[in-house]
Amino acid sequence: MKRLGLLTGGGDCPGLNAVIRAVVKSAVAHRGWEVIGIEDGYDGLVGEPRFRTLAPADVQGILPRGGTILGTSNRGNPFAVPIRRPDGTVFYEDRSDQVIENIERLRLDALITIGGDGTLRIGLELVEKGVPIIGVPKTIDNDIAGTDVSFGFDTAVETATDAIDRLHTTAESHHRVMVLEVMGRHAGWIGLHAGLAGGADVILIPEIPFDLNRVAEKVAMRERAGRRFSIVVVSEGARPVGGEPVFIEPPGEGGYGRLGGIANRVGAGLAAMTGKETRVTILGHVQRGGSPTAFDRVLATRFGVEAVRMVERGEFGKMVALRGQDLTAVDIADAVRVPKLVDPDGELVQTAEEIGISFGR
Ligand code: F6P
Repeated sequence: MKRLGLLTGGGDCPGLNAVIRAVVKSAVAHRGWEVIGIEDGYDGLVGEPRFRTLAPADVQGILPRGGTILGTSNRGNPFAVPIRRPDGTVFYEDRSDQVIENIERLRLDALITIGGDGTLRIGLELVEKGVPIIGVPKTIDNDIAGTDVSFGFDTAVETATDAIDRLHTTAESHHRVMVLEVMGRHAGWIGLHAGLAGGADVILIPEIPFDLNRVAEKVAMRERAGRRFSIVVVSEGARPVGGEPVFIEPPGEGGYGRLGGIANRVGAGLAAMTGKETRVTILGHVQRGGSPTAFDRVLATRFGVEAVRMVERGEFGKMVALRGQDLTAVDIADAVRVPKLVDPDGELVQTAEEIGISFGR
C-alpha cells in the first residue's frame, strides 16, 4: 500500500483531468493505494499544506473536462517565493524545505507532478533534495524534449485550426489579409501544425526569424494570381530577422515573461506594405481551454497509468514519455535540459514550403 501525492503545475491544458482520473483509478481502485491531491501546484505544499484525498468517486465524469480539478499556478516556485515588504518591494525566499516537511507530514511515498518544463524543473530540484518524484509532461506548446508529444497539444492545434478555417471564409469574402497569433512560447509547433492543417499562406515561427518584405511579396503574389486574400499564422514567439520577441510582460526576476502582440506588428507592417485591408486576431487562452480531443484523452490516460507503474517500479527522477507509439521513462534532467523546438530545415517545414507556404525567409 502506497500513498501518492499528485499535483498539477504550470499553465493548465486540456487532458490534466484525464491524467488525474487515470492515476486515481489505477492507484486507488486497481492497486488499493491512496492518492492525495495537492491544490494549486507546488503552492499547496508551501506553508500550511492544502490537499484532499482523491477517491474514485472524486474523478467521476472529469475525463472530458478541460482545466484541472486540483487547481494550478504557473507562478508558484517554492525555491523562489515572492515576499512583499511593507514598502511594496518584493524579495524571493527559498521555501523548498517546507515542501519537503509537508511531504513527510503527509507521509507521501512519492509525488507525481504533472507539468511543463517549469514544473518539471522544480521537480528536478526537489529530486536533488531527495524527494521521490515522477514527472508527467503536459503543455499545449509541445516543447518538452524527451517526449514526442505532450497531451494538450493536439487539442490546442484543433482549436487553432478551427480559428483558421473561420478566418478563411471571412478573409475571402472581404479580400483581406488575416493575421492570427497563436500560443507556443518560444516553440512554433502550434503555429506550424495549425498552419498546415488550416491551409495558411504564411506561417511565422520563432525558429525561423522572418523578413516582412518576403511575407508582403507572398501576399502580392497571391493577389496577382487572383487570390485576393491571405492567411498569416504567427506564433507568439516569432520575431523578425535581427529583432526580439514581443512581450506583454517582460521576463524579470522570478517571472518567465508573457509573450504576445507580434501579430499586431506583423498586421500593421503588412497593411502598410501591401495596401491591403488587414485584420489581426490574437487567439489567446481559448487554446488552453475546452474538452480534450480523443487523442489527448488517450495519451493523458496512458501517461497517468504509466506514472503509477513507475512509482511501483521505483523509477524516481524520471518522466513518462511517448516515443513513437510506445511509453518510456526518461530522466527529468534530460527532458528539461533544452526545449524541443521546430527544426527550421526539418521535414515538416520543407513539406510546408513545397506546397507554397511562406515562412518569411
Ligand atoms: O505554456 C503554455 C502557454 O499557454 C504559452 O503558450 C503561453 O505563452 C503562456 O502559457 C501563457 O501564460 P499565462 O497563462 O500566464 O498567460
